Amino acid sequence: MKRSLNGMRVLVTGGCGFIGTNFVHHVMQKFKDVFVINLDALTYAGRRKNLAEWEGNERYQFVKGDICDESLVRDLIQACDCVLHLAAESHVDRSIVDARPFVQTNVLGTQVLLDAMREVDPPGDKRFVYVSTDEVYGELSLEAREKRFTEDMCLRPNSPYAASKAGADLMVQAYHRTYGMDTVVTRCGNNYGPYQYPEKLIPLFITNLLQNKPVPLYGDGKHVRDWVHVDDHVEALCCVTENGEAGEVYNVGAACERSNLELTKIILRAMGKPESMIEYVKDRAGHDRRYAIDARKIRENLGWKASVSDFTDKLDALIAWYTTHYG
Ligand SMILES: NC(=O)c1ccc[n+]([C@@H]2O[C@H](COP(=O)([O-])OP(=O)(O)OC[C@H]3O[C@@H](n4cnc5c(N)ncnc54)[C@H](O)[C@@H]3O)[C@@H](O)[C@H]2O)c1
Repeated sequence: MKRSLNGMRVLVTGGCGFIGTNFVHHVMQKFKDVFVINLDALTYAGRRKNLAEWEGNERYQFVKGDICDESLVRDLIQACDCVLHLAAESHVDRSIVDARPFVQTNVLGTQVLLDAMREVDPPGDKRFVYVSTDEVYGELSLEAREKRFTEDMCLRPNSPYAASKAGADLMVQAYHRTYGMDTVVTRCGNNYGPYQYPEKLIPLFITNLLQNKPVPLYGDGKHVRDWVHVDDHVEALCCVTENGEAGEVYNVGAACERSNLELTKIILRAMGKPESMIEYVKDRAGHDRRYAIDARKIRENLGWKASVSDFTDKLDALIAWYTTHYG
């Protein structure tokens, strides 16, 4: 069924995080009749001021709260037409130190949202979009470069973060099958863009270099990630919300594979810094070698296409953004 976000009341979870912020700005600007309810617990990764320009706007409501709060979630779901679920603990390194908050928010929090969705009458009346990740597939080898993740592959997550995302991903699909809920799952590659908390590679390296600090690169630096600009990701989220088929999973990718070392050198060059700023550090435990996404399904079935395929196109703008906000 084709629907439009325009005129909808959209519950966004995690709207003060990196992708959530970009998503809220995008829909508020693009759809003049959308109403956004942003539910965010404001953990270390969430910043309310990211969306300060919408505070006071009659089409925007911020709710500080936890997705594990059953009665709050039930009330908000009754008040909306669809849910974009982005709230998560999202950093792999933190999940290696302590998996508990990852299971709590990513698995149990998703179950709380799904159970509140079950009370919707009829059950397929409101769409639930779950923002999963390509990390649920596990890893690909560096050698078989023709291999890419497709939606029908088994999930073989390796980090506690990825395992918690995979648990929720499967719960969403189970609720579709069991209760007839209108769900869509997306699995996107690594995003880059403004508003990301500076702990993951790109914002961490840029902000370190702004302060003339070295950049800590894991292991041999040959780990490959498939990068997507956040603008393309949020457009894909709109696309699946409006046109995705209920019960389906869609990969999101821009065919932009780079090793961490290549990426680091690109950032160093763009910021006029020498390669001696690279500090090779002990590899992350269980570090996946390569992610690569086959995004044919969303392209061919829904007509979505990445507009930014070359990482370097947006790099100067990104460095300028972090210079303004963290420099
Ligand atoms: N960043 C990426 O490259 C990437 C790639 C693919 C998928 N994803 C997924 O996209 C989603 C958003 O990722 P991100 O990078 O914007 O994450 P982020 O860490 O920047 O933001 C997460 C947001 O969720 C909020 N939050 C955390 N726990 C909460 C809770 N219990 N209740 C309510 N709010 C809570 C935080 O305050 C924060 O605002 C996540 O589900 C992540 O798994 C991210």
